[in-house]
Amino acid sequence: MSTTLIAPEKISTLLKSMRTPSVVGVCRAPGRVNLIGEHTDYNGFSVLPITIKKEIHALFFSRNDHIISLSNDNPQFSPVSFINSEHIAPSATGAWENYVKSAVVAINKKFNVKDYPGFHIHISSDLPIASGLSSSSALVITSALAYLKILGIELNKKISRPELSELMAEAEHFVGTRGGGMDQTVILNGGENYACKIDFFPIKTQLIPLFEDFIFVVCDSTIRAPKTGSCLSKYNSGPIMCSIATAIFERYLQEKIDKSIKIQRLSDLWSGDLCLTLKEILELNNTIFTKETLTSREIANLLNISPTHLREKWLKEIEEPPNGFPLKAKVRHVITEHSRVELCRDALIANNPYTFGQLMNESHKSCAKDYEISTPELEMLTKIARKAGAIGSRLTGAGFGGCTINLIPKENVEKFMEEVEKEYYRKYLGLSSAKGMFIAETADPADYIKLEHIKT
Ligand code: GLA
Repeated sequence: MSTTLIAPEKISTLLKSMRTPSVVGVCRAPGRVNLIGEHTDYNGFSVLPITIKKEIHALFFSRNDHIISLSNDNPQFSPVSFINSEHIAPSATGAWENYVKSAVVAINKKFNVKDYPGFHIHISSDLPIASGLSSSSALVITSALAYLKILGIELNKKISRPELSELMAEAEHFVGTRGGGMDQTVILNGGENYACKIDFFPIKTQLIPLFEDFIFVVCDSTIRAPKTGSCLSKYNSGPIMCSIATAIFERYLQEKIDKSIKIQRLSDLWSGDLCLTLKEILELNNTIFTKETLTSREIANLLNISPTHLREKWLKEIEEPPNGFPLKAKVRHVITEHSRVELCRDALIANNPYTFGQLMNESHKSCAKDYEISTPELEMLTKIARKAGAIGSRLTGAGFGGCTINLIPKENVEKFMEEVEKEYYRKYLGLSSAKGMFIAETADPADYIKLEHIKT
């Protein structure tokens, strides 16, 4: 990719405003669509996303002070600045500078930065926001690439792409969401025409060629799902419930097998010393959780702690659902979803789109029923999509709104899009045309764009 979304006039104006900066550069990061493997990453299980040709681009240049200043083509994001220092406090939840801060804080710590240089970043993007296409992580990664260049730290030399992915996944917790590492990893390691199978702890990536005669179409439900806004506690309830379930598994196994057993995340049951099969984990899930839901008192009893301790250490701001916490279903989703990711990888390699599509439909069902992250709109959109010829249709990303991903035989794509436009966007939503429906063209991973390719 040698062109940038940033208008040449903007580049000239910004550069002229600066007094001979010592470092100037442009970088880009694509958005991502997850094909399958939802809410598995923070549990240590695999995912299968792609990068998409909807991107965030950043022009950056050094400043002679310690101020990090930001500007954005999108007027929704006002110019803002903060001081680079040892203690950078997060701004209000949802503030856009928090994503930049998260990258800066993590890089300062990792590379023991002590001179806290200032720089400016100007953002331009065609990646929709809060649609489940990972605009937030794309911003974190562009900020990280910019800051590394300002510091003279070379990507692939002083820090590898998987290392930076891991660093930025952890870094993004600064904004308040307890996500996993899928987004940062695919943005930095995905590839044009490939799906990226990712395993975690440690991060391992495998690029797998996509189907030739079947393509993926993204459809936006148009319901916004801001992970650091209205969906923050909905999103965090997934990781929180999974860590509670993990602690319950650990305590149960310590009592039944060996006191020294340690389980940090659900995947440790499978890939750790215990080496249980997925079937054995599901059986254990049924044995430990005799009921579908548990009250906080019942959970506290299982962990042998007080309800107050449970609230303070684990539940935090998460409200107790009227029927109790559905821990059993959460685990069931994570384990079955992991096996669907593995089967989808195999189906891609074996060029078997129909199996892949069927697994996508099963994944959607599990996301809706067991993980409870679907919405009426996503249900309607996936139903219409299947009727319109998708051989697989599922919500993608965190859920609670955002987009669906749909697998369609190439020759039916036009008909599919017409049908979805008519039935979902016009009839169901009452819009005058489709909004946010596009063929998911895959993109190169995040990188720098050579300045000589940019006309100013
Ligand atoms: C968000 C998070 C990811 C992942 C997905 C759900 O996109 O950032 O880490 O947990 O939700 O699969």
